[in-house]
Amino acid sequence: MKHVKIGVIGLGQRGYSVLKSNLLKMDDVDIVGLCDLYEDRIEKAAEAVKEIRGYTPYCTRSYEEIFGIEGIEAVYVVTCWETHVKISIDSMRCGIPVACEVGGAYSLEECYALVQAYEETKTPFAFMENCCFNNSELMATAAVRSGALGRIVHCSGAYGHDLREEVSYGNIRRHYRLENYLHRNCENYPTHELGPIAKILNINRGNKFLSLVSVASHSFGLEEYIKDKKLYEQDAALKDVSFKQGDVVNTIITCEGGETILLTLDTTLPRSYSRAFTVRGTKGMYEMDTNSFFFDGMKEDFNTCAYYKRCIDNGKEYEERFMPSMWLNMTEEQKKRGHGGMDYFIYREFVDCVKEGREFPIDVYDAAAWMCITCLSAASIENNGAPQAIPDFTNGAYKTRAPLDVVNLEKTSC
Ligand SMILES: NC(=O)c1ccc[n+]([C@@H]2O[C@H](COP(=O)([O-])OP(=O)(O)OC[C@H]3O[C@@H](n4cnc5c(N)ncnc54)[C@H](O)[C@@H]3O)[C@@H](O)[C@H]2O)c1
Repeated sequence: MKHVKIGVIGLGQRGYSVLKSNLLKMDDVDIVGLCDLYEDRIEKAAEAVKEIRGYTPYCTRSYEEIFGIEGIEAVYVVTCWETHVKISIDSMRCGIPVACEVGGAYSLEECYALVQAYEETKTPFAFMENCCFNNSELMATAAVRSGALGRIVHCSGAYGHDLREEVSYGNIRRHYRLENYLHRNCENYPTHELGPIAKILNINRGNKFLSLVSVASHSFGLEEYIKDKKLYEQDAALKDVSFKQGDVVNTIITCEGGETILLTLDTTLPRSYSRAFTVRGTKGMYEMDTNSFFFDGMKEDFNTCAYYKRCIDNGKEYEERFMPSMWLNMTEEQKKRGHGGMDYFIYREFVDCVKEGREFPIDVYDAAAWMCITCLSAASIENNGAPQAIPDFTNGAYKTRAPLDVVNLEKTSC
């Protein structure tokens, strides 16, 4: 079995957990390099490699040195939002295939530079949006592909995740989100919900985003949380701090195909986790929060409350028809590889693509189109919700690029 030699750049929360619970469990992956700015994080990750694999990889605080490791075949960039695009570009320019973690862009120039680096080098680039591999999103995508939901008209999604602790402990725990919430006001994390929606709508492959408008609420959640918990006693920089990031940001995107997309960022108020992924078509809908399908004509009194309640969790009844078999056949071990199993699929796909010289199904054009929502939403909010044009990073090629799902959904086509 061919082994793929991978370097990991960024060993914070996500990097360490993916390394330990996923990459090191893959029989055909060898970790040849580890990099972080912090020595203690490198040491902890090196210990995990030693414990699981019995050797110590090359360790460095300078990511450029990772590209120089003899025989290295890919890097996984899992640093902060501020640096992962630049490091990915440098990796492509060194001819090393790169898997880039998700986040939002700070400028359109950053997105264009990423696309340009790919076009000039043709070095494989993978955007690691794991939610595109999740069961609910794939089941809904398969339903769309089968025609069961009719023409898709509107989709919505959210990043609904109470991050008050993660953000406000940023200085203490050395996490990048704090600086972002202090100084930016935008849809700062669009891709978990937008990725699966963009795939459904064939963005960059027959369809494209046209424009967006964004509005932000006041910013109260973090300041109140910090005061209530007296966090300034542990971190003096939090004394009387004020945050720029609004508590709830709503963004509406229009697409060339006539569809609209509503995204909600909701991370600094008390709430349960939700991606609120919803697909609406002329023949039906899917709603992830209730795991429910509704198809036109299902029942005459469909709009009564009782029937609505009966739909809750009826997604289970449609799994045989729409759920990709990889999810139906998944093992307990695969489920433990992160986020209920979706992480297993995305890292497996990345490694297989490197081995087989295949393009990853979420490419540089997807990365640019999805990440640019962040900087454009900042501009819209700054200008009282003024519409912002979304560039076509494919430069017209989207018109002829064939649709591509992240997995084969063939069993569901009719
Ligand atoms: N796909 C997912 O489900 C998921 C989940 C969590 C985080 N993420 C993404 O993973 C990334 C990291 O998130 P995190 O929570 O682990 O952040 P973190 O702050 O805990 O870790 C980031 C690490 O990157 C290191 N780093 C920054 N710049 C570097 C550089 N130039 N060279 C080497 N190392 C550098 C930092 O020292 C830090 O240790 C983010 O892009 C985030 O959006 C994705």
